[in-house]
Amino acid sequence: MKNNSSGKKINNIWGGRFSSSTDEIMQEFNSSIQFDKILYLDDIDGSLAHSEMLCKQEIISKKDFDLITSGLKQIRAEISNDQFSFSLKFEDIHMNIENRLVAIIGDPGKKLHTARSRNDQVATDIKLWLRRNIDEIDLNLCELQGSLIEKAEANYDLLMPGYTHLQVAQPITFGHHLLAYVEMLGRDRGRLADCRKRLNELPLGSAALAGTSYPIDRYFVAKKLKFEKPTDNSMDAVSDRDFAVEFMSASSLIAIHLSRLAEELVIWSSDRFSFIKLPESFTTGSSIMPQKRNPDAAELIRAKPGRIFGNLFNLMTVLKGLPMAYGKDMQEDKEPLFDTVKTIKLCLIVMNGMVSKLEPIPVKMLEALQKGFPTATDLADYLVTYLAIPFRDAHHFTGKIVLLAESKNCSLEKLTLDDIRTIVPNADQNILNVLKIENSVSQRTSYGGTAPKNVLKAVKKAKLKFLGNKNEI
Ligand code: ARG
Repeated sequence: MKNNSSGKKINNIWGGRFSSSTDEIMQEFNSSIQFDKILYLDDIDGSLAHSEMLCKQEIISKKDFDLITSGLKQIRAEISNDQFSFSLKFEDIHMNIENRLVAIIGDPGKKLHTARSRNDQVATDIKLWLRRNIDEIDLNLCELQGSLIEKAEANYDLLMPGYTHLQVAQPITFGHHLLAYVEMLGRDRGRLADCRKRLNELPLGSAALAGTSYPIDRYFVAKKLKFEKPTDNSMDAVSDRDFAVEFMSASSLIAIHLSRLAEELVIWSSDRFSFIKLPESFTTGSSIMPQKRNPDAAELIRAKPGRIFGNLFNLMTVLKGLPMAYGKDMQEDKEPLFDTVKTIKLCLIVMNGMVSKLEPIPVKMLEALQKGFPTATDLADYLVTYLAIPFRDAHHFTGKIVLLAESKNCSLEKLTLDDIRTIVPNADQNILNVLKIENSVSQRTSYGGTAPKNVLKAVKKAKLKFLGNKNEI
C-alpha cells in the first residue's frame, strides 16, 4: 500500500488511478485469498513457465528471469512450510504471490506480469489445479473398482436375492451385484477423461481478453505446462468455465452412483436384512442405545449429492447470462468447485474403506431368498419350454403354486411333486430341479447374466479393462 496525495492508503497493484482506498468491508467482500490460496502450486508453475517464455522471447532479461525463478521457488517453499502470511489486502493468490515476489527480489518482480492478466492467469491456474485433481479422483475411482472386483471375485457364487421395487425378484450372486457398480464407476472415469481432454488447452497469453502485442510464444508455455495446445480465442479463453461445469456434472453422477451403493449398504447392514457386516472402523455407536452400530459413513455418502448437485447449480447459475469476457462473477467459481473435489475424494476413499472390509453373511442372504419365492420365473419358463403351456397360462399356474407354498408356509423348493401336480397334473420330477435356487442362478448364462461362471469371466474382464491387469486373462 502507498499513500496518495491526501495521505490515504491506496492499493499498489491497481491503485494508480484511484484517489481513495477501498472500504474495509469491500476488501473482505472482494477478496478470494481465503479460498484461492490452494491454487498456489499451480499459480507458481504457471508463472515459472510464463517467465521462462518471456526470457526466451527476450521480453525480459536472463538476469531478471533467474531472480524471478528463485523468488517464486522461495515463495513456494514458504507457503508449503506455512511460513507465508496471506493478506486480504492483496485480494487473491495471484497478487499475494506477486507482492511477495517484489518484496523478495525488488523491481524485477514487477516484470513477471508482462504480457498477461489475472484473467488468463486465473483460468490457467484453475485448469492446472483441476487437471491434477481429476487425475487423483480417477485413481480413487480405480481403487474403489479394484476393491469391488476383489469382493466380487471372492463372492462370485454367493447367492442372494436380486430385487426389483425392493421386492425379492430373482436369485443373483453377490459378485454380480457388486460388478454392476464397477460398470457405473467405469463410465464415471470415462466422463472424467473426456472432461480432462477438453479442459487441456492453455488460456495463458490471452491476457485480459484481447491477446497481447508482446511477441509471446503460447505454444512454448502450453508445452511446458503439458497442455495439448493454446486456446484459439482469447475472449473465450478468459471467460470459459465449461470445464468446471463438466467436471461438476461428472461428479454429480459419481455422487449418484455412490449414494446408490451407500443406500444398499444401509439396507444390507440393517437388522431386518443383515446381509452384510460393515467394518467397525466405518460405523459408529449410539450415545444412548448400547446395542447400536450405525452406518454413519454410508448415510453421509447417501446425503452428499445434496452438496454436489448444489455446487453444480451454483456455478451454472453464476455463469448463465454473463456477457463476454471476464466478470468478477467468475471468482464465484472456486468455492463450489473446490468443495466438489474435496467431497468426491472423501466419499470415494470412505466408500473404498467400507467395501474392502465389509463381510457378507451368506445364511441371511439365503434365508431372504427362501422367503421370497425367487424361482417363480424359472418355474413359469419351465412350464412354457417343457410342458408347452402358453406363457400367460404358465404365469397363472405359477402364481397358484406360489400361493400353495405360501399357505404351507414353505419355500418353492420344499414343495413335493404331488403338491405341484394338484395344479399342473402333468408335471414331472424335473420340475423340482427348476425350483432350486442354485440351478436358477447357474442357468443365467446369457452374456452379462448372473451365472457364477459368467461372474468369474466378468471379473477377469473388468481387471483387464479397468485395472490394466493384463496377466489375469
Ligand atoms: N481473484 C480473481 C478471480 O478469481 C482473479 C481474476 C481477477 N481479474 C480481474 N479482472 N479482477 O476471478
